[in-house]
Amino acid sequence: MKPIGLFYGSETGNTENAASMIAAEFGESNVDLYNIAEADPQSLLSYDNIILGASTWGFGELQSDWENFLPGFDQLDLSGKTVALFGLGDQENYADVFLDAMGTIYSKVTERGGQTVGAWPTDSYEFTGSTAVINGSFVGLALDADNQDDLTSDRISQWVAQIQGQLQ
Ligand SMILES: Cc1cc2nc3c(=O)[nH]c(=O)nc-3n(C[C@H](O)[C@H](O)[C@H](O)COP(=O)(O)O)c2cc1C
Repeated sequence: MKPIGLFYGSETGNTENAASMIAAEFGESNVDLYNIAEADPQSLLSYDNIILGASTWGFGELQSDWENFLPGFDQLDLSGKTVALFGLGDQENYADVFLDAMGTIYSKVTERGGQTVGAWPTDSYEFTGSTAVINGSFVGLALDADNQDDLTSDRISQWVAQIQGQLQ
């Protein structure tokens, strides 16, 4: 497998923690971790395998580092790239806009020509609305450190096993 560039933005550390767990699951030598607060969007182009991690803030908004980073995607050609997404949100307090940031990033990735993998079932969550759901599945791994943190580790293991064969 080619190297993976994992890019995440995190306000209070939950997405950062999940990013480290995902890297450990792949084997740390296979993954380069980037906190997007300190990264250039052009760095994505160094990788054919890209993982993007984001929490949702405000009411269905991007986390602040993603607000700054995502416009840089408009300059990128992501064709030929395989992209997997994961998102952190709170399905109880933000049930109408659960993980919306992952939906926003998904739209941008597909607009720029990236091929996404890693859709994830909605079965074990309770929420009412999310732009991260397309054709009945989340567009990437859905994590909720606020209400279901006990499930995070197993979800990451399953998701990594699922996407491993789909990366380049
Ligand atoms: C003020 C505030 C607004 C939030 N807005 C949303 C939201 O709109 N949708 C959602 O799914 N989660 C929302 N959350 C939950 C966070 O996304 C969640 O706590 C996440 O784990 C934070 O990850 P981070 O520490 O990596 O930024 C919000 C949390 C706070 C405190």
